[in-house]
Amino acid sequence: MSDFVGAVDQGTTSTRFMIFDHGGNEIARHQLEHEQILPRAGWVEHNPTEIWERTRAVIETALNTANLTHSDLAALGITNQRETTVVWDRRTGRPYYNAIVWQDTRTDRIASALDRDGHGDVIRRKAGLPPATYFSGGKIQWILENVDGVREAAEAGDALFGTTDSWLLWNLTGGVDGGVHVTDVTNASRTMLMDLETLDWDDELLSLFGIPRAMLPEIRPSSDPRGYGVTRADGPLGGEVPLTAALGDQQAATVGQVCFSPGQAKNTYGTGNFLLLNTGTELVRSSNGLLTTVCYQFGDEPAVYALEGSIAVTGSAVQWLRDQLGIISGAAQSEYLARQAEDNGGVYFVPAFSGLFAPYWRSDARGAIVGLSRFNNNAHIARATLESICYQTRDVVEAMREDSGVALDVLKVDGGVTANELCMQIQADVLGVPVSRPVVAETTALGAAYAAGLAVGFWKSTEELGKNWNEDRRWTPTWDGEQRERGYAGWKKAVQRTLDWVD
Ligand code: G3P
Repeated sequence: MSDFVGAVDQGTTSTRFMIFDHGGNEIARHQLEHEQILPRAGWVEHNPTEIWERTRAVIETALNTANLTHSDLAALGITNQRETTVVWDRRTGRPYYNAIVWQDTRTDRIASALDRDGHGDVIRRKAGLPPATYFSGGKIQWILENVDGVREAAEAGDALFGTTDSWLLWNLTGGVDGGVHVTDVTNASRTMLMDLETLDWDDELLSLFGIPRAMLPEIRPSSDPRGYGVTRADGPLGGEVPLTAALGDQQAATVGQVCFSPGQAKNTYGTGNFLLLNTGTELVRSSNGLLTTVCYQFGDEPAVYALEGSIAVTGSAVQWLRDQLGIISGAAQSEYLARQAEDNGGVYFVPAFSGLFAPYWRSDARGAIVGLSRFNNNAHIARATLESICYQTRDVVEAMREDSGVALDVLKVDGGVTANELCMQIQADVLGVPVSRPVVAETTALGAAYAAGLAVGFWKSTEELGKNWNEDRRWTPTWDGEQRERGYAGWKKAVQRTLDWVD
């Protein structure tokens, strides 16, 4: 057997290719950003052709740098930004429109009409999701209604929908020359179109959005020994490698963090934060503003579900300090600046730039900085920004405890913001539980590699993967209970202001 497994991580801001060995160690990587297209307030698009070109380039460069070829790879997995919607022409391979990104809010009327017309409950019950601009269903509907010729082509089976996993799988396996049109259960669970129990597209949900079934990919397990197909020999791998895994990036990070038992959770700190709690084969429906989603499905084993708290703005609030306020020159400086303040000086910042996701789901909320006095300075704003990341996490942890009865005894973390030591210390203080970061911080790509490797026997079991996980750093709480609850009460008051603003 070949010595390595590869993984493409197609994210919101960049695409990377990583190669791992049997111990889960990184052997090679290459990463390229793509353009964020912002045609109007609230609209966010990507060019699917650029994403495919970047994918080709990162694969070729990583293989060349490591002096490896396709025959060194036992299997290949894909992980991706979820919900982002591509519709393309199967005859030409050309997208009909730019990809509409998960952050895009152009479908707010579609989403609010669903609740207003009494369809919210069926979507919550079957798909586990609240009607919101975040998910793919409304984005597909928007393309069908606004781009010439797409509806006719969709009905004829010529217009294909996919999240970016499907788009890349189609291109990697052959494109117009017979590419496969598949997705996995985790990605399908983010569309508002799949029934979480049958794991199939649901006719009632499809009809709410007016989406023809013919444009949808086949739903497959996240790790599939049958394989979705093989990479075409004239593609970026230069030969045939079995494509055996696809998972949404937050589910992949859960696998990379080896959260294979019910009650285990991970929190990924990127542009936004995504906290997933494995609930096992049991579907836990949230009464507290969390999503029910598929965590993974390995081969013909039953699907494993998760409760998810999705937070739209965390790392991007730090970027806002840099790009819009200009009070820091880079993300690392946010820690330095925040350390100049002893505490938040009474200031709370609620970065509700795209409304608030979990557990509030208020697309009309807008951001606020509250509690200012003349005493306050940039250090307090920086500190309040880091605290906002941690308090938003506490909001979803509270909701999870109420929905599942599971009280976390440790929070496993990953993602770019976990390099900020002060932020991680505040996180432990705000939650009152230890925070633990693994040695391999690239849990998303690692999770896709694990799922791909399990399918071909490169790794034999999830127990074997568990042995690869090692802690790099742990932060333990230093606040007493009184300080913790006083701080959180201030945060809740500040959140209320962002909701009052629009009432
Ligand atoms: O649901 C959106 C999420 O998948 C985006 O993740 O890491 O690409 O920002 P990321």
